[in-house]
Amino acid sequence: MNISTPGPTVRPYQSYVYAYPHKTAYRPLAERPALRELWAAEPKDALSLYLHIPFCEVRCGFCNLFTRIGAPEGLVTAYLDALERQAGAVREALGEDARFAAAAFGGGTPTFLEAAELERLCDIAEKGMGADLAAVPLSVEASPATATADRLAVLAGRGTTRLSLGVQSFVDAEARSAVRPQRRAEVEAALARIREAGIPVLNIDLIYGIDGQTEDTWRHSLDAALAWRPEELYLYPLYVRPLTGLGRKEARAPEAQWDAEWDERRLRLYRSGRDHLLAHGYEQVSMRMFRAPGAPATGGEDHACQTDGMVGLGCGARSYTSALHYSFDYAVDMREIRGIVDDYVSRPAADFARAEHGRWMTGDEARRRHLLQSVLQAEGMEHAEYRARFGTDPAEDFPAELARFAERGWLDPDAAPGRLRLSPEGLAHSDALGPELFSPAVRAAMAAYDLK
Ligand SMILES: C[S@@+](CC[C@H](N)C(=O)[O-])C[C@H]1O[C@@H](n2cnc3c(N)ncnc32)[C@H](O)[C@@H]1O
Ligand code: SF4
Repeated sequence: MNISTPGPTVRPYQSYVYAYPHKTAYRPLAERPALRELWAAEPKDALSLYLHIPFCEVRCGFCNLFTRIGAPEGLVTAYLDALERQAGAVREALGEDARFAAAAFGGGTPTFLEAAELERLCDIAEKGMGADLAAVPLSVEASPATATADRLAVLAGRGTTRLSLGVQSFVDAEARSAVRPQRRAEVEAALARIREAGIPVLNIDLIYGIDGQTEDTWRHSLDAALAWRPEELYLYPLYVRPLTGLGRKEARAPEAQWDAEWDERRLRLYRSGRDHLLAHGYEQVSMRMFRAPGAPATGGEDHACQTDGMVGLGCGARSYTSALHYSFDYAVDMREIRGIVDDYVSRPAADFARAEHGRWMTGDEARRRHLLQSVLQAEGMEHAEYRARFGTDPAEDFPAELARFAERGWLDPDAAPGRLRLSPEGLAHSDALGPELFSPAVRAAMAAYDLK
């Protein structure tokens, strides 16, 4: 590692590719296809279930996720009622032979729900959708203040195997600067409660690149996290996106302007964070994800978001068949989000039997998605797997892109024959490499999207 290299020549932080195509490439579906037909010919013996909870106690300054602040009286119950209606309609459309092999509750903050509401959420997954939560991996996202002992007890009792806690920073001043109002003492208390609840896998999310963060304070946060021996750690580079609290506050608009100094700072923090975790025996799974030695592979968020056969419930959830990716409308602005949640809770069951917003997948998009989902994993991709699925070689399908990546030193020249694997610098540039694999059509749709 040479930290005195000149500034990066390619913008390393363009977009986090956790799902392809991005929701901003979805459009209203004029025909509103029936889910029954969409799912008829799909393999349904190992589906993933995702339940989205669009509520948080606060709106963090960096967050552009689909979530609203708090819930007025009755809205959570109305939301669970709507989820139940949607579960009934979707389950019927999937048919008798649907089986779930994994489940996740995400958000927003699923633990915004109180203990009894979480019981009901689990019932919707089990009785409404037929997922056997005690038998399949179940991953749940939480924030420190909402990870209370009674809610964790419900989640542990219903079979949660992975609890992901958004910590972001163990330094109070950095949490404040990211507009994430929390204190270290609260975070430590939440971590103790999670360990006490006995959920097998603890994941901690941390962010680097926050204003005021230095290599020393970053190391301090990493060490504070390591003290809990989390089975997984996710290290996220800070993104400041339009319409978020930080995006509105800052004159700097990294989407439009290239802030090379900030890019270099994030790259430096990434490299030092990565090296620190590797020195502690953690295995790097992707640019963001690290797994403790001996920890079970849970198929973390990076991967789960990319699988086919995903059934999402809730107004921010995506669903994927091989032919169509679909969801409800998407927004970042708080007023727009409130409108979409209100609209969702008012829907009758019949409305949930059809897809509404989405993007049809072509053969070319499926190839791009497969390449993206595998090459951004540290272990890389077997050419043979790609060939078995598509009948061609990735080098035939993406000659220019792969040549460019090799030229930039992003491919590992020592990868085993027949394996395409990123070099450490390639992994560090995942958020630049990924977007280069987007199709012209997806790029154009994303650029034309009117963010609200
Ligand atoms: C769904 S959120 C976490 C769940 C929970 N609501 C919480 O915040 O504690 C997933 C993670 O993505 C990361 N994240 C979200 N927006 C980000 C941004 N703009 N820049 C960097 N990381 C971000 C944060 O680390 C966050 O914990
Ligand atoms: S980061 Fe988490 S708690 Fe904060 S607003 Fe986003 S989803 Fe909610």
